[in-house]
Amino acid sequence: MGVTCESKGTDMSESAAPKTVLVTGATGMLGSHIVDRLVQRGADVVALDLAAPEPGYAWESGEDRVTSLRGDITDRAVVQDAVDRVDAIVHVAAVLAKAEGDPPGPLMAVNVVGTHSLFEAAAAAGKKVVFASSGSVYGPNRTAIDGEPAPAFVETDPPHDLGFYALSKQVNELYADAFARVQGLRWAAMRCGAMFGPRLRMGLTTRHLLSVLDDIDAGRVPQVNGDPDSGLDWVNVEDAAEVIARAVSADIPNVPINVSTGKATRLEDVLTTLLRVVGADETIDWIGDRTPSGVFTSARYYNNDRSHELLGFRPSTDLEVGLRTFVDWRNGMRNR
Ligand SMILES: NC(=O)c1ccc[n+]([C@@H]2O[C@H](COP(=O)([O-])OP(=O)(O)OC[C@H]3O[C@@H](n4cnc5c(N)ncnc54)[C@H](O)[C@@H]3O)[C@@H](O)[C@H]2O)c1
Repeated sequence: MGVTCESKGTDMSESAAPKTVLVTGATGMLGSHIVDRLVQRGADVVALDLAAPEPGYAWESGEDRVTSLRGDITDRAVVQDAVDRVDAIVHVAAVLAKAEGDPPGPLMAVNVVGTHSLFEAAAAAGKKVVFASSGSVYGPNRTAIDGEPAPAFVETDPPHDLGFYALSKQVNELYADAFARVQGLRWAAMRCGAMFGPRLRMGLTTRHLLSVLDDIDAGRVPQVNGDPDSGLDWVNVEDAAEVIARAVSADIPNVPINVSTGKATRLEDVLTTLLRVVGADETIDWIGDRTPSGVFTSARYYNNDRSHELLGFRPSTDLEVGLRTFVDWRNGMRNR
């Protein structure tokens, strides 16, 4: 696996590693990498998801340390049964933002109510929950200053101007805090940047990675409707899984932690790198109202000092290396 460990980073988790861990959203992109990480670190895993694992998942090929459960986190009995089986919980099952105008209903039902019942069961049983939050809780991109990205968001920055998806993640953090105060829940909220890598699915921020490759495969000039000069914090999913696996067993306070590279990369630079990785000669046809200028118009990226301080690790896999792993996975899936 392509995780880069910093030489001075120490993993503070070994002494308190829970023996059995529930991972919700376990067959999704992030969840499946977390399952792999936890197994590598010696845990038994209960892998809960609505969907079955896809071909190529480690535990699908007879990994006996993983128990697969099919179930819905909005079903309280399913959640209670899963929580009863384990010592700690990683909760990443969610409805993701697919488009700006997503209806709020499913986000509320799954992300908020589903997460709430999981917190309730975990608090009652005294089990720690590490859950996927999102950098979107800070609000929209910051406007660039003189063509350079404005400062990175830090965990103490207040939320503002949230859409429904970001709100669902912010509400989870507030619930976790309340459960901690009232019932002693131990939690960590992992505020992930724009994750990509093997097992990527079509989502709002990362959809262009898939659509550009689909266009090339179909012999079309890749068309992208987006701002080429806007920047995001592009995080290799294997790095993100490493941060989260460490948070499960580390003795840390109840806090949000950015899961990020601490760098903004312009969308045009990401997609140009992707074209280089696949050896394509095409250039992107930007069909929105912006043509690339080569300088930032806006950016959303996140300081990762807290991850380094508390967990001894910060995502740092080179973007091109990460995109190559992503492309290799996609090629492997297409050739099956
Ligand atoms: N992908 C990103 O760029 C990104 C960025 C920030 C935060 N996040 C968060 O990280 C987490 C994982 O994201 P991902 O990219 O792996 O998404 P994904 O869609 O690949 O995985 C989500 C998984 O949750 C499962 N799921 C959805 N509803 C469920 C339900 N009711 N019961 C049980 N399982 C259910 C899905 O079947 C899926 O396998 C999510 O919480 C997401 O909000 C993702």
